[in-house]
Amino acid sequence: MEINTLKEKFLNIFGRDSEKIYVFFAPGRVNLIGEHTDYNGGYVLPCALSFGTYLLIRKTGKDEIRLRTTNFDAKADIPLKDMQEKHTVQWANYPLGVMDQFMKTGISLTGLEMLFSGEIPYGAGLSSSASVEMVTAVALNDIFAAGIDRIDLIKMSQKAENEFVGVNCGIMDQFAVGKAKKDHAMFLDCNTLDYEQVPLNLGDYRLVIANTNKKRGLADSKYNERVQECAQALAYLNPDNKFKNMSDIDLQLFDELKKNIPEQRILQRARHVISENNRVLKSVEALRAGDLESFGMLMKMSHDSLRDDYEVTGPELDVMVSEACKIDGVAGARMTGAGFGGCTVNLMHRDQTNEFTSRVGTAYLKKTGLEPGFYFPETADGAHHVC
Ligand code: GLA
Repeated sequence: MEINTLKEKFLNIFGRDSEKIYVFFAPGRVNLIGEHTDYNGGYVLPCALSFGTYLLIRKTGKDEIRLRTTNFDAKADIPLKDMQEKHTVQWANYPLGVMDQFMKTGISLTGLEMLFSGEIPYGAGLSSSASVEMVTAVALNDIFAAGIDRIDLIKMSQKAENEFVGVNCGIMDQFAVGKAKKDHAMFLDCNTLDYEQVPLNLGDYRLVIANTNKKRGLADSKYNERVQECAQALAYLNPDNKFKNMSDIDLQLFDELKKNIPEQRILQRARHVISENNRVLKSVEALRAGDLESFGMLMKMSHDSLRDDYEVTGPELDVMVSEACKIDGVAGARMTGAGFGGCTVNLMHRDQTNEFTSRVGTAYLKKTGLEPGFYFPETADGAHHVC
């Protein structure tokens, strides 16, 4: 939606006032490879997308936070004194969680009117939640002149989701949404938070995102279950507390230590995380060398591991990937994000995109009964002030 149209909507909802309306934007993200590694202190390789979340925000001087969205019929008016409580309108808990973090840092907020407008399909694995969190964090930091460093804003947004929303997510999404650079993928070490912006020189290839339109039912609880299983794997692999994270263990060491894991399911979870870390390292090398065929192969291997060892794909994502791999010129295809539904990311020769959407679309509909969606993403910079 145009910014002027959004401003009109804001004024229709909240009325005119002499206070300035500020506009902020945070992108969505697509993870190219490195799935379910972040909360294990591993490597990830996401990039930010040109579609994201706008936030229009105005100070009121009143004792109330008023939240609205153009996306669905949900609104929440919260007295400042009740801000630390979880709200019954689930969507409101993302911005509220971030505000809670600001207050815990000792920043006193005053009344606000906030209108969100999201372009990211909800629950599709493209980080609509992190986008709402980061746009809130960047906006509050600016308009209250809080002077908080960007990395701390990222950590506060992750905490908001962990503590307020109740999903024990890692830091990848907030980091990508907060710090990504256009035309680059972000190679992030989630243990040290060291990162490098790797140029995304795709030449004749391009990325296509395919949405299964399968909603991720119970995804949050299954996600938390995987986090728990990884903690269990680390405990088996690490009786002497030598390793801080599962990602401190490389493939060779894992071969020696895996005999200590008595449960097959837990062994599979560990094998995914440790092999996926290795695939991220190899992907960065391949991207740097302009070897997109090898990068694509690694994407396919990542999907296989997420399907067989981590068990977070499901029939819809599997059909979307297997149909994609049947098309000539598709170098790589894999699920992206948490899984259990949502999107795949595909790397293909640019001449193949029409054939891809038509053939994969038809086969997917036939096999699942669901109408897929396709996006041709541009990469983007992290969250920022628009005007
Ligand atoms: C979700 C989480 C991230 C990450 C991915 C899986 O997007 O928010 O922290 O764990 O799933 O890689």
